[in-house]
Amino acid sequence: MSDDIPHDVHARYDALAKAVAAADIAYHQQDQPILSDAEYDAQRRALQALEAQWPGLKAPDSPGDKVGAPAAAGFAKVTHRVPMLSLGNIFAEAEIDEFVARVQRFLGFDAGAPLAFTAEPKIDGLSCALRYEHGVLVQAATRGDGAEGEDVTANVRTIAEIPQRLAGSAPEVLEVRGEIYMSRSDFAALNARQQQAQRPLFANPRNAAAGSLRQLDPAITATRPLHFFAYAWGEASALPATTQSGMVQAFGAYGFAINPLMALCADAAAMKARFAAIGAARPGLDYDIDGVVYKVDDLALQQRLGFVSRAPRWAVAHKFPAEQAVTQLRDIEIQVGRTGALTPVARLEPVNVGGVMVSNATLHNEDEIARKDIRIGDYVVVQRAGDVIPQIVEVVMARRLADAQPFAFPHICPACRSAALRELDENGEADAVRRCSAGLTCPAQAVERLKHFASRDAFDIEGLGDKQIEQFFADGLIRAPADIFTLAARDAAALKKLKDREGFGDLSVKNLFAAIDARRQVPLNRFLYALGLRHVGRTNARRLARHFGSIEAMLHTMRGDADIAMKEITAIDGLGEVVATSLQEFFAEAHNNEALDALLETVTPLPMEALISASPVAGKTVVFTGALERMTREEAKASAERLGARVAGSVSKKTDLVVAGPGAGSKRTQAEALGIEVISEDAWFARIEAGS
Ligand code: IVH
Repeated sequence: MSDDIPHDVHARYDALAKAVAAADIAYHQQDQPILSDAEYDAQRRALQALEAQWPGLKAPDSPGDKVGAPAAAGFAKVTHRVPMLSLGNIFAEAEIDEFVARVQRFLGFDAGAPLAFTAEPKIDGLSCALRYEHGVLVQAATRGDGAEGEDVTANVRTIAEIPQRLAGSAPEVLEVRGEIYMSRSDFAALNARQQQAQRPLFANPRNAAAGSLRQLDPAITATRPLHFFAYAWGEASALPATTQSGMVQAFGAYGFAINPLMALCADAAAMKARFAAIGAARPGLDYDIDGVVYKVDDLALQQRLGFVSRAPRWAVAHKFPAEQAVTQLRDIEIQVGRTGALTPVARLEPVNVGGVMVSNATLHNEDEIARKDIRIGDYVVVQRAGDVIPQIVEVVMARRLADAQPFAFPHICPACRSAALRELDENGEADAVRRCSAGLTCPAQAVERLKHFASRDAFDIEGLGDKQIEQFFADGLIRAPADIFTLAARDAAALKKLKDREGFGDLSVKNLFAAIDARRQVPLNRFLYALGLRHVGRTNARRLARHFGSIEAMLHTMRGDADIAMKEITAIDGLGEVVATSLQEFFAEAHNNEALDALLETVTPLPMEALISASPVAGKTVVFTGALERMTREEAKASAERLGARVAGSVSKKTDLVVAGPGAGSKRTQAEALGIEVISEDAWFARIEAGS
């Protein structure tokens, strides 16, 4: 290294090189980016600029030399026949009581009623689904997004701890699920080998396990010591047990490793004791765990409890306390979101927090910065817990530098220079969030909305990720959602073709156009969610879609009399004035209506009826009354809604069906008077089971 390079340039270069290398590992080997694409690009560019300016600085293995493109999509995709779900998290002991109470309430149990749970370590690896047919391993898949993973069969066959053939008599079809992980000692040995071979090091055992499993060449996986704990299952032609603990025992008998710390707990007190015991055992384990998972033991009860969005109601993950580290705050940057919210983001001197390099943290809003008196240049305590975005806990005041700069939160939007305002609520209190007032004319908002529009839960257009949208927007190719659907036609007529651009080619452009074409018809709920209206997330979009049934019906209402629209929206179960007002504000703007009409010329939202018409109660309005014996009210409502029914609290002319238990009174009489069908709870089950 040459001596004439200033010390601070060295320090900055080292920090940047580390940050880029860490981001590379996280992205390529772990599939869990720690930086957004834009942040990553900016850091790489900064690194390369320093290298250009100070040639003596450049390390022989500079991450600036590596190609930033994602790894080739070398694995075939596997659609999970039973989705691979995630778990809800809790962090405090008191939340165990809340979890138990919630389960009891849902099941209609008395608070003291016996209800057993299993408690087991949450292994910090990657989940994998192993499919056995006639006892023989036929397929292994990663979790992926839960709906679709990657086929890693060849690689999994190299893992000694995973049986190729099940011992004993297993069901004809059985998908065993569990966690693939690397032991701490094997991780240390692997990193030592990597270092010797001058190859990049892995940040932690999970990273190493993921990188080892996702090798395109199974011969490499075979050299990496991977382990597996079985703890769950997917498709099964029959189940060998009626309890969670019994299932795991059965996995043990088939030849799988099962975790020895798993225990059956009779109540919340026992769960707390188990949490403490597993926590105490943690430092002595040769594998990483990041919490304890509690599951209702009785499988029939699991079945009744079912799922909310992507997590089971019958299980929860109790995470160990967040890990913390101290680092310096370099700068505060303002990001402009899809609804114009100005969000401050802390740019940190990269620091290792519990095995992950952190260089950004959220600062929430301007009041938070003021409350914690956070100044640029301060040393701050950074914390990360589970998958949440790292946070700044507090400033280390003892280390405050004399020149630490208080942060002046901008009152104009950094993207478009329009005024950024804090709205007042009905009590005259300023909203915590400052928003750019320019709406869609603000480029940052427009780009963020487009990203949302194409994102997984919205239009889900493969190949049109954040990076591509930023590029297309900057080049003026896509300014509004409708432009996405005219892209192919315009490209055909253009002189400079997409396929000739950097980062594109014949095939990727063809795939992109095909992915866009595949979304010319989308379910109405996705369509509404994609519009990105304030307060209309996935759940509310589904409520609106279910209520209106078609976009035409919705437009008819929203573009008609405002009072009637207000009444209609607020009458929808689960929706109130906040959503109704947000919708009205959207439809009051001419440019929103124009953009929507332009979109509807190229895209057809599929009516809701078509989507759930297979269900016998789809689109029906159902009222439950009287004492229900086989399910609680909450359970009844959830099961009906899952099948596309609307559940109402009172009987009216709009009611299609009344499910009446013993002791049903006025609602039953009312229904009979109106000539509405009244059935028993048993008949309800017969009907939904027959049709679903
Ligand atoms: S049960 C339907 N048990 O945690 C519930 N998950 O946050 C299925 N994990 O994707 C998961 N140890 O990768 C379960 N003992 C354990 C686990 C465990 C680790 C992981 C798993 C899952 C994630 C959910």
